[in-house]
Amino acid sequence: MVHTAPAALKGGNKVSVKTKISIVGLGYVGLPLAVALARSFDVIGYDVNANRVKELRQGHDRTMEIDTPSLRASSVRFTTDINDTRDADIHIVTVPTPVDEDDKPDLNPLKGACEAVGPVLKKGAIVVVESTVYPGVTEDVCGPILEETSGMTSGADFYLGYSPERINPGDKVHTVDKIIKVVSGQTEEVTDILADVYGAATTGGTYRARNIKTAEAAKVIENAQRDINIAFVNEATMIFQKLGISAYDVLETAGTKWNFLNFTPGLVGGHCIGVDPFYLAHRANEVGHFADLILTGRRINENMGRFIAESVHSNLSGKSKILVLGVTFKENVPDLRNTKVVDIIQVLRELGHEVDVHDPLADKDEASQFLDIDLIENLSDLKGYDAIVGAVAHSVYRDLSPAALEEMVGGNGLLADVKGIWRNTEFSPAIKRWQL
Ligand SMILES: NC(=O)c1ccc[n+]([C@@H]2O[C@H](COP(=O)([O-])OP(=O)(O)OC[C@H]3O[C@@H](n4cnc5c(N)ncnc54)[C@H](O)[C@@H]3O)[C@@H](O)[C@H]2O)c1
Repeated sequence: MVHTAPAALKGGNKVSVKTKISIVGLGYVGLPLAVALARSFDVIGYDVNANRVKELRQGHDRTMEIDTPSLRASSVRFTTDINDTRDADIHIVTVPTPVDEDDKPDLNPLKGACEAVGPVLKKGAIVVVESTVYPGVTEDVCGPILEETSGMTSGADFYLGYSPERINPGDKVHTVDKIIKVVSGQTEEVTDILADVYGAATTGGTYRARNIKTAEAAKVIENAQRDINIAFVNEATMIFQKLGISAYDVLETAGTKWNFLNFTPGLVGGHCIGVDPFYLAHRANEVGHFADLILTGRRINENMGRFIAESVHSNLSGKSKILVLGVTFKENVPDLRNTKVVDIIQVLRELGHEVDVHDPLADKDEASQFLDIDLIENLSDLKGYDAIVGAVAHSVYRDLSPAALEEMVGGNGLLADVKGIWRNTEFSPAIKRWQL
């Protein structure tokens, strides 16, 4: 269904939108957005990954964000040819923004996307960045690339916008069609148009940020704030371990105060919370400020895998056979990127233990190729380990019966509960227990 032009077009201003939208990058963010926008607009999805496009055309979303019936019912068209996006009035860029080996922003995918879009950009179009970036990237990095590759002038021939993505993979409540969408544009009119476009896709409404840099900064501190709060809880957890107190018990107790913040200890993986603070720290550094607290939080959280592994080790007697349950970066998603469970596995192996790893959601080939981990299968056949490390709170692990878990740890092994999955479960007294 093609809508008429957004209301902001009235008055004959230079911005011309006929609501043909191209989504550049069809991952965890791009695909749900494409499907949501396609309920109101004419949407084409472009990705450089031919296999991803092939799977999407077949109705298969390996990220598990969109189920097959919804994908098949959607009007989104998928392509690997950027020329198919030539008539788009709005290009929304949702490509990865990772860090490099030195934890510096790697803007290459974003630059590549802009280099692809520039030559097909039509006059009057808007390019909206949704990828998480530090303040300034949209106007100072993307803008010049788009100008150079299109031969047009930003702010006159085409326009820039930024609209941060807030979705949380695996979270079926705060979905792209329900959350408040922050929008910002190079001009008031562009902001209005983006508010109209995104407003059609979400029932949560839109918020017009004062300008693009404000919207970029807001997104990056949303995640940096979480990282720092988790780092605080992780540091407190390390202290409580030495004191023989459970952090979960302490947090539950402190949480009875009306203004105590609800954060839990654990690994901070994935490509958002563990990455975005580095973007802000990088920009801070460029303008002569050392982002002390932000980087300290990062350091504490980065060290959590080693801390957990060493704590588990100190509860074992000698070289042990250990089963790690879960390897994805968070529960109930198949996403392996930047998972910190690998730190636990690596340190346990360094300490001389034999470690098996199980995960029902992770892709076996991906785990082998990118993490060098051979996942084992058939959970019900796994028995007689010296220790189980519950590393990821997948529902399938939460649902395990105490009897099944006891069999896995050979009747008297160690049950190490990183996520507090079984903290209220009764086990036979022979089972040794460790938790944060
Ligand atoms: N996943 C999240 O929870 C989440 C939440 C909020 C914000 N973000 C941000 O959104 C952005 C995208 O994240 P994601 O999780 O969707 O990444 P993703 O890796 O799942 O998907 C990105 C897609 O972009 C494609 N791609 C890479 N380079 C491209 C190019 N030059 N042109 C076209 N396609 C290209 C990849 O093939 C991939 O399919 C990142 O900046 C991320 O920080 C992610």
